[in-house]
Amino acid sequence: MHDLLSAAWQPLLTTRAVGRGDNCVEHTLTSTNTVLKELARNGARHGSVCLCECQTGGRGRLGRAWSSPEGRGIWCSVLLRPEMPAERAPLITFCAALAVTRAVRRLCGLEVRIKWPNDVVLDGRKLCGVLLEMGFDVHGGMFVIVGTGLNVRRGAYPPELSDRAIALEEVCAPPERGELIAAYLSELELALTEVEKSGLPGIAEAYRELSCTLGSEVQVIGTEERFTGVAEEIDQSGALLVRDADGELRRVLAGDVSVRGMMGYV
Ligand code: BTN
Repeated sequence: MHDLLSAAWQPLLTTRAVGRGDNCVEHTLTSTNTVLKELARNGARHGSVCLCECQTGGRGRLGRAWSSPEGRGIWCSVLLRPEMPAERAPLITFCAALAVTRAVRRLCGLEVRIKWPNDVVLDGRKLCGVLLEMGFDVHGGMFVIVGTGLNVRRGAYPPELSDRAIALEEVCAPPERGELIAAYLSELELALTEVEKSGLPGIAEAYRELSCTLGSEVQVIGTEERFTGVAEEIDQSGALLVRDADGELRRVLAGDVSVRGMMGYV
């Protein structure tokens, strides 16, 4: 019933390193991020990919759980050992969002956009989320795990999220997951190369063009406070610059808050 992930994507790869490492493909895992992090600590190579049909402990941003039922989506993590200082590594989150967006646009012809920092959205609902985690291996080498959860089939997310989440199958006949994975991995490698070379400016124009946050009125919801304003720009560190009601430009950091549109999730 399900296309076999391991067989389907590898021959389609056009990458130099991403997808060509010590890949781990299983039917069921707790979380591809957790499993790949452990492999990374023990020396797995740059570009290693971890995929599964079903996660029993899928994790989302801000400590949330991530629904990952069997065969309904792409539950994928990529290990990167980027050539950049550790303080720049969080920028890879923008590479991942851009990569998924480009892959889905190319293969599905859908007008998906990026909700800052890294949600991929369609028709005001979330199609894909990105969870970036950093760590250090036993030799002190820095690594990044880029986890993406892309809803492909109906049933990828629980019914109570149907006003906020969406799956490809609701709007198109989805391509084989293997094709999407290969396209995503190629785009990820391209975006990473740009950011390694030039920092965020290397992908800023492409990211801005696909952003649905910039220029919109947003609510910024933090643990301590919330405010509304207009999202004007993303600075070199990836922070969102929001003009509040008093005309002050406030810097919003991705790890701390959730940003919503005035009418709902986007
Ligand atoms: C978000 O909250 O938007 C991020 C969701 C990230 C989910 C993916 S699924 C593959 C990888 N493994 C996990 O446990 N989480 C990420």
